[in-house]
Amino acid sequence: MTTTDSSSRVILPLPGNEAFARQLAVAGRWELGELETRRFPDGESYVRIAAEVADKSVVLVQTLAQPDPGFLSLVFAADAARDLGARDVILVAPYLAYMRQDRRFHPGEAITSRSFARLVSSSFDRLVTVDPHLHRYPALSALYTVPADTLHAAPLLADWITGEVERPLVIGPDEESEQWVAAIAQRIGAPHAVLRKIRHGDRNVEVALSDLSAWRDRQPVLVDDIASSGRTLIEAARQLPQQGFALPVVAVVHAIFAEDAYPQLAQLCSRIVSTDAVRHQSNAIALAPLIAQALATDTEAATSLVRHRRPPEPLDDIDPTTGADSFTATSTL
Ligand code: R5P
Repeated sequence: MTTTDSSSRVILPLPGNEAFARQLAVAGRWELGELETRRFPDGESYVRIAAEVADKSVVLVQTLAQPDPGFLSLVFAADAARDLGARDVILVAPYLAYMRQDRRFHPGEAITSRSFARLVSSSFDRLVTVDPHLHRYPALSALYTVPADTLHAAPLLADWITGEVERPLVIGPDEESEQWVAAIAQRIGAPHAVLRKIRHGDRNVEVALSDLSAWRDRQPVLVDDIASSGRTLIEAARQLPQQGFALPVVAVVHAIFAEDAYPQLAQLCSRIVSTDAVRHQSNAIALAPLIAQALATDTEAATSLVRHRRPPEPLDDIDPTTGADSFTATSTL
């Protein structure tokens, strides 16, 4: 492990990630740069790095909830940074997309987790993310060919619960959540329980509660890595009062909350909180300090990385005149 020279790092936010990037820059005492992005009239993307990046470590910040519209700009920005002589180009994606389609469930399906990993790995030297949805893959290294830091928000959720909830009972809505529910419960010295879930479809989930009545006097806190369609948490939250519990508190890492998931869940809970991995009205737990700490330490693999690095290319002459084949970039993305 080595420590990075903080003066040689610049943080660049993709659109929508400015607040997170600012917090990251403050937490790590790094320079905050600017990325200019626009859309050409034909829908193509314009990207310009408005910062000095030569010989610096460049960190592009883009959480990857709803990744499709912004992904090309991200790749263009990474390439531009490299062309302009960046020492390395790192992607900070607090939420990592395309982790669910990790096998072919029906004939002919694209295994998008693999394709997406290949695309990211070919553009970046390192990936830093938080609680990726690892289901059939044991680790990101099984998918990503660049060093990938998997950070965990469980201690932050635990600290939030300690400060905000009296006599909690930490509950995971399915067996998969056992890992972080047990870790949280242990950290705060509270009991925990794990429910059983059967998923019949994207929005069709069955959750079975065992008898939790021994803890009825405690405040249930449902904890999950992601609220996507929200069905898992909705089904769990619906059933707890039937065993005499108070309305649950919900704490999630990734607040995707597709469609009307949030208002539906809100009716069944006393409070919903999330980390700011995905920008959402429930955000209450900041991830920037955790990510800054990881970035401040280069893994050995990252420092010795030569895989994608190539010497800066001579810059094309800049032609300030607008030629017949040039478009004026107009609206922001
Ligand atoms: C389970 O595999 C995960 O930990 C989450 O419980 C799940 O992804 C939540 O999905 P949804 O909100 O669509 O029920």
